[in-house]
Amino acid sequence: MTKRQPLVNSSNGFPPSTLQCPTRSPIFTSAGMAPFKPYFLGLKTDLKRAASCQKCFRTTDIENVGYTGRHHTFFEMLGNFSFGDYFKKDAIAWAWEFVTKELGIDSRRLFVSIHHSDDETGEIWKNCIGVPPDRIVKLGDKDNFWTIGVGPSGPCSEIYIDQGVEHSCGKPDCQVGCDCSRYVEFWNLVFTQFNRSEDGALSPLEKRNIDTGMGLERLAAIMQGKTDNYQNDVFSSLVSQIEKQTGSQFNQSSIIKTTLKVISDHVRALVFSLAEGAIPGNEGRGYVIRKILRRAARFGFRYLNQDKPFLFSLVPKVAEIMDFYPELLQNQDHIAQILKPAVKS
Ligand code: GLY
Repeated sequence: MTKRQPLVNSSNGFPPSTLQCPTRSPIFTSAGMAPFKPYFLGLKTDLKRAASCQKCFRTTDIENVGYTGRHHTFFEMLGNFSFGDYFKKDAIAWAWEFVTKELGIDSRRLFVSIHHSDDETGEIWKNCIGVPPDRIVKLGDKDNFWTIGVGPSGPCSEIYIDQGVEHSCGKPDCQVGCDCSRYVEFWNLVFTQFNRSEDGALSPLEKRNIDTGMGLERLAAIMQGKTDNYQNDVFSSLVSQIEKQTGSQFNQSSIIKTTLKVISDHVRALVFSLAEGAIPGNEGRGYVIRKILRRAARFGFRYLNQDKPFLFSLVPKVAEIMDFYPELLQNQDHIAQILKPAVKS
């Protein structure tokens, strides 16, 4: 990706910590929409639209990290949001225009998914955008209903890229929505029109909203012609540094590849979290931090023979690569100090 300028305020002017959701229950910000909940709920009204790049952390994906080319704990989430302003038709048209014209991604490689009950969205893709019907796939709640538990939620429509048949699992039913590496979802357009209560009941929001989410790491891989995020230029020099320090090679074997992904993802997540004041602990956010710290150290010990602390030595590299977040450079000694004792468990 083009070199980015340091941000004056790394949270882009959004509420304080972007890793820790300021509004309610989640211990990390797991989606770009989290700090905007008051706007979706109509509690705040000073914004009608927003676009952001935010620091996100998904605890739900920890065990997947290392085993795919697309999962991360920490990642940068791009998104655009409408709070009772533009809705489905515009959000879809602008997303398609951005992907196919601005980014120049070949539409013949693209598929879209819609919620099985959402014929209106299918019609927009077909009639307004011109996506062929055999490229519009209906999926269920698991893939096409967005919620982060209690709060704003709604049906969604995702844009997928076909990475080629050589990346398919080969199962006869491999299609959009399959967990393998062939079809990669890279942009989710959520039509946030419900509020979900503690008991799971959905009530219509007064105004209909838009919430979109696109992971920068996936997009960077696509734009750079890579089918694995860990080979894009956000990750490749960190992976090279680990290879150099441990005498390993990314393509040496499947378990070494997994290990290098685990370590590079987790050390990046640790650096960002510790820079925001998190520390390893026994509960809540600290427990998650400790878990990924131990997971990275364990993989390093088992598969790269790292029986001495080594994660701390990667901190300057992460801070250098991600230097548009100045808090990493500013806190690198403190972060390295915390990571140093970690060897194995
Ligand atoms: N909130 C939409 C997404 O994170 O995919």
